[in-house]
Parts: sequence; structure tokens; C-alpha cells
Amino acid sequence: MVRKGIILSGGLGTRMSPLTKAVNKQLLPIYDKPLIFYPLSILMLSKIKDILIIVNKGQLNQYKKILPDGKNLGIKIRYLEQSKPKGLPDAFILGESFIGKDNVALILGDNFFYGQNLTSKLLNCTKLNNGAKVMLHKVNNPEQYGVAKIEKNRIKKIVEKPKKFISDLAITGLYFFDNKAIQYSKGLKPSKRNELEITDLLNKYKIKNKLKFDYIGRGGAWLDTGSIEDYYKTSAFVSTIENRQGFKIACLEEISYLNKWINKQQIQKAIEFYGKCEYSKYLLKLISKK
Ligand code: DAU
Repeated sequence: MVRKGIILSGGLGTRMSPLTKAVNKQLLPIYDKPLIFYPLSILMLSKIKDILIIVNKGQLNQYKKILPDGKNLGIKIRYLEQSKPKGLPDAFILGESFIGKDNVALILGDNFFYGQNLTSKLLNCTKLNNGAKVMLHKVNNPEQYGVAKIEKNRIKKIVEKPKKFISDLAITGLYFFDNKAIQYSKGLKPSKRNELEITDLLNKYKIKNKLKFDYIGRGGAWLDTGSIEDYYKTSAFVSTIENRQGFKIACLEEISYLNKWINKQQIQKAIEFYGKCEYSKYLLKLISKK
């Protein structure tokens, strides 16, 4: 069972400078809430309650203002600082004592997921006892991601940002690993861009026939927040869905409440904390329902 979750939420956000000079990218808004709410909601929908957020050195206080220790959400949030962006697998090296003997899910702080059946897919992934599992999504620009080539329903090849086309299935920034991820990550060597690569870690599992996959599917969305253009498109997507349906995407208190991790009183406290805003109005509506 996967019980621990890590959000890798550092990085320099260079492509979005000057916006990211004073504030970390994952704290900037995607429509009506900070970007980090979205990946956190994905871990919470996966019923993962023990969460480590890895942030840039010096940015801890920014994060704690909005996500203190998780008690308000009925979960446990811990923080660690990363001295510089050393690559995704660094999460398992830094997070070794947090992970302990458990299995772990890793989600990138800038990844946005949405779609029907997503929760049941996520719950399926957390059943993982042994090996690793990735979520794939078809994209038009595979050269910008880690990609997987599938043959006969098996992963044939994994390449990080391939210059030559091998497949249009991007490996999304949500990964489920058994405890060996720690030991394997320690054995990785930095790539040409001087980072530990998640694709190298995944290849260690693939060689041993321990790498599984699932698709997010056509009805689901995995959106980019990498460039400023993509960032605003994701914001527009959230605004469209929320205003059409009246449901919020990634309302953390709602997820906790529906999971029965918090009660009406705690929602009331959240309303006081956020103050007079649309988000609070939504929470009030939630607890006013019979
Ligand atoms: O988004 C999915 C892609 O993420 C995967 O398809 C690729 O295989 C994977 O390598 C990664 O690609 P990027 O090169 O686009 O990742 P990026 O460096 O942009 O980092 C992603 C997020 O993780 C970003 O929010 C910053 C954070 N990060 C990244 C690194 C390398 C950290 O917090 N620390 C780090 O050391």
C-alpha cells in the first residue's frame, strides 16, 4: 500500500520569471487558488494523508502561511528544503527518513490533473505493493516530456525529452514507487543537464519488469503549467469548469470533508481563515447542505 506522498515543489521557475523572482511558482494562482492545491488534492484523493512538501531553500515560510501542518485538513504535512534543483529522484534521497519503510507517491508541484474516473484510477495505483507505476497521457509535444513507447501492452522504451519521435505518450508527473526507489535513486548519476532523471529511475524498474502503467485517457486532462502561455490556459480551464458546474476543482477542505477527515467546525475555521471570498462562500455552501 502507498501511504506516503511527496510533492516536489521547488525549482527555479525560470521560464516564468520575473513572476517567480519573489514568489515560488507553485504559490502563484491557477484561477482561484495556488497552484500547489491541485497536486495536493490529487494525493488527498488518493487517500494519502502523510505528505512531505519539498521546497526551495528560503521559501518555507511562504508555504507555511497557506499550508501549515495539515491539521486543518485532517492530514499531516511536513516540509524539507532542497538546496538546488538536483532532479526529481532527489525527492527520495532527501525524503528517506520521511518515507521510512513505506511505499511512496511522488507528484510534481506544477502538474495539473483532472477527469472522470481519476479518483478510482488513483485509488488503484495506491494498491501498489511492489514495483513502480506511471500515468501516461497522449500529447502533441512529446519532445518536452519523458515519454514511453508501448508495445503489446508493455513499456518497451522510456526516454527523457526525445529529440527523435518515439511515441506521443508523455509520462506525467505522478509516480507510484515501492520503497526501493530510495536505494535506486542513490545509485543514479546526473544526466547531461546535471540532474538525476526520473526516467533513469523508471528504467531501473523496467529492466526488472517491475514497471506498470495506466492511461489518464481521452476524457481526462493533464495540463502543463510550464510556460506562461500554458499557465494561463490551465487557469482558463479551471475557470470554465468551475463556473459552468458550480463545483470547485481542488478545494482541499471539500476533499477532506467528503473523506470524513474533518468536520463542519473545521470548515467553519477555514472560512474564518480565508475571510470573505468566493472560496469561503463555496465552503459555507458545502456545510449548509442537508
Ligand atoms: O511534467 C512531467 C515531466 O516532468 C516528465 O514528463 C519528465 O519526465 C520529468 O523529467 C519532468 O520534466 P521537466 O524537465 O519539465 O521537469 P522540471 O524541471 O520542470 O520540474 C518539474 C517540477 O518539479 C517543477 O515544479 C519544479 C520541481 N522541481 C524540479 C526539480 C528538477 C523541484 O522541486 N526540484 C528539482 O530538483
